[in-house]
Amino acid sequence: MIVTIDGPAGTGKSTVAFLLAERLGLEFLDTGAMYRALTLCALERGLAPNDEVAMTALADEIDLRFDFHTAPPVLLVNGRPVGERIRAEDVTGAVSIVASHPPVREALVRAQREIGREHPRLVTEGRDQGTVVFPDAELKVYLDARPDVRAHRRALQLRSKPGADLAAIDETEILNAILARDRLDSTRATGRMRRPDDAVVVDTSELTTDEVVSELARLARERLREAVLAGGADDHDAAAGGRA
Ligand code: DC
Repeated sequence: MIVTIDGPAGTGKSTVAFLLAERLGLEFLDTGAMYRALTLCALERGLAPNDEVAMTALADEIDLRFDFHTAPPVLLVNGRPVGERIRAEDVTGAVSIVASHPPVREALVRAQREIGREHPRLVTEGRDQGTVVFPDAELKVYLDARPDVRAHRRALQLRSKPGADLAAIDETEILNAILARDRLDSTRATGRMRRPDDAVVVDTSELTTDEVVSELARLARERLREAVLAGGADDHDAAAGGRA
């Protein structure tokens, strides 16, 4: 079973996807981390995020893989864990540009499908998981939330970091950055953030994480039951056809 969770930043995708995977006994894939790791590598090497040729060469060269033995899985770049550095502001500011290059997306989509083949019981989250990467997923979810709620959640997250400079955390600034990233993610030509037509849409603005996870777990179990029943009906039809 593959469950895709797409949607903009600050809707709780990563937390929800990870907890849902735990609850259903599935594995968890954070595809944003892959774009972030590539961006971090580019910054470390002094490459310009808008240089498509350089970004494509980098995407083809570096070895991005997850160690699925830990929960959540650890992302390794050329065998080295990248850790929380990929969530820093410089990476967040540049990642949408790196993710806008079609050949970069092709390379990462290929890598994600490969992970899907090796780990076919997966909850995967990103921007294009239900539309491009796993169009045949059993359950597609699109998480959304009001922009002010998303900015507030991000501010809380930043304030809770050890050593956070509380005075420097400005919610209006965060909101503007979130809206700018949404615009870039949803207007680029390739892999544009889009709600899959067959997705279940959940607005998380007024819901707790547990409420969202419980609802999605219920939906996933329902889909599985339907798939099993449909499989049973097919077997029955085939058997009946064979007898006829
Ligand atoms: O979910 P996140 O904030 O970690 O994602 C980081 C960036 O990567 C985000 O700006 C959009 C991009 N991204 C993407 O284009 N496609 C994905 N499947 C996942 C993330």
